Amino acid sequence: MAVIIDGKQSAAAVTDMVAKAAARLEQEAGLKPGLAVVIVGNDPASHSYVNAKSRMAKQCGFTSVQHTLPEQTTQAELQALVETLNTDPAVHGILVQLPLPAHLQSEPVIQSIRPEKDVDGLHVVNSGKLASGDLTSGLISCTPAGAMILVRNQHGADLSGLNAVVIGRSNLFGKPMGLLLLAANATVTMAHSRTKDVAEVCRRADILVAAVGRPCMVKADWVKPGATVIDVGINRIDAPEKGEGKSRLVGDVAFDECAEVAAAITPVPGGVGPMTIAMLMANTVTAAYRSVGRPVPTF
Ligand code: GUN
Repeated sequence: MAVIIDGKQSAAAVTDMVAKAAARLEQEAGLKPGLAVVIVGNDPASHSYVNAKSRMAKQCGFTSVQHTLPEQTTQAELQALVETLNTDPAVHGILVQLPLPAHLQSEPVIQSIRPEKDVDGLHVVNSGKLASGDLTSGLISCTPAGAMILVRNQHGADLSGLNAVVIGRSNLFGKPMGLLLLAANATVTMAHSRTKDVAEVCRRADILVAAVGRPCMVKADWVKPGATVIDVGINRIDAPEKGEGKSRLVGDVAFDECAEVAAAITPVPGGVGPMTIAMLMANTVTAAYRSVGRPVPTF
């Protein structure tokens, strides 16, 4: 039976350091880190993520502002809000929750966020720095940064000689995760919906990372015995066994059967999810430190 990686515990360690760094910045420079979270529309899952982010920001001692915009918000209105936040000196981090409603284009919005306030790490300046191997001067996407801490806790900082497979190639997760693993010297394969025999590809992985959004897709026979399995999926499925109309969260990995084969595995919930929020806090305090030219703490 695999070790179950405790994302809540690792996240608490990060947010504890973030809160201390924030307190120090306020004491020494009179500056409180500020995070602005923007959400458009009524998607319940997005609202629950955003509420958790705002709550944690307050817990870390930040100023936290949430902008909740109606479903019918126009592109121009959303971009005008981003522009206001870009020039607000009390705001060090801006996060526009994705996905946006279908009538809005996310890319122009993301690219209009000032790179130094882009705590999602999605601006081309930040993703480009990561792609060129600069892991220190930009901001790195929160979920891969958090997943990488969990990998590091299992394997150390140097992944030389290890095969890593990432399933999924999104800008938000798969691509930056692949680049982080590569920067740590892993031999990286990016698998996706057009990959031939994905199970066979996955079986070569010492570190298997799944981010596809398909409940329980990764089965036990996809997992190399002794592998570390990182499950980034959050899928809500019907759970009639809990009562009529009830649901539960599962990942992209069939947890119980894969836990029989892996050496270490993240649960859903309680694995990567809490790390995403913790790294958002870390990115925000980092942006605040940089805004006054102070050396940035490491997390
Ligand atoms: N939606 C799901 N995950 C994320 C994330 O990390 N950032 C943003 N902005 N939206 C998301």
